Amino acid sequence: MTSGEGVTVWFTGLSGSGKTTISRELEQALLERKFKVELLDGDIIRTNLSKGLGFSKEDRDINIHRIGFVANLLSRNGVIAITAAISPYRNVRDRVRASIKNFVEIYVNAPLEVCESRDVKGMYAKARAGEIKGFTGIDDPYEPPLNAEVVCYTDRETVSESVAKSIAKLEELGYI
Ligand SMILES: Nc1ncnc2c1ncn2[C@@H]1O[C@H](COP(=O)(O)OP(=O)(O)O)[C@@H](O)[C@H]1O
Ligand SMILES: [Mg+2]
Repeated sequence: MTSGEGVTVWFTGLSGSGKTTISRELEQALLERKFKVELLDGDIIRTNLSKGLGFSKEDRDINIHRIGFVANLLSRNGVIAITAAISPYRNVRDRVRASIKNFVEIYVNAPLEVCESRDVKGMYAKARAGEIKGFTGIDDPYEPPLNAEVVCYTDRETVSESVAKSIAKLEELGYI
C-alpha cells in the first residue's frame, strides 16, 4: 500500500556509471504515475546551489550535505526527491540517510573500466593525463555502499531493467 509520504531516492556511483541516465528515466516513470517528483542531479546542483565548490573532501562533503538538506525538505513534504550525485563517501551518505525519514539508496554499480571506456564527458581521459586532479575512481576514493536498497549493474542490465528494479523496491517499501 502507498504511504502517501515522500521519499528520497539517493543514487550513488562512479562518474559514467549511469546515475543521470537511470534517474531521468525513473523520474519520467514516476511522473507518468502522477507522483510529485524533483530530480537533483549533481552536475546541475554544482552550477547553482553549490556553485563555487570544488572537489576537495571538504567541498564534496558540503555539496552532499546541501543536496541532502534540499532532498529532506522536499521528501518530508510529500515529494519524491531523486538525487544523482557521485557522493563518494560512505559516512556522509549514511549521515544524510540518518537525517531523512524515508530514504532509499540505489548503488549504480559499474566497474571502473566500463565507466572509463564510456567516458561520457571525457573526464577520465583528462584525469589519466593528469589534467584533472582528485577524480573519483582515479586518484580520489569511491566507497561503495554496504547496504544499498537497490544495486543496478549497468554493465549487464538495461536502463529499463534498472528502473524496473528501483520501482519494484519503492513499491515493496510502500512509498509508491
Ligand atoms: N544499463 C545502463 N544504465 C545506465 N547507463 C547506461 C547503461 N548502459 C549504457 N549506459 C550509458 O552509460 C552512460 C552513463 O552516463 P551518465 O548517466 O551520465 O552517468 P553518471 O550520471 O553516473 O555520470 C550513458 O552514456 C548511458 O547511455
Ligand atoms: Mg550524472
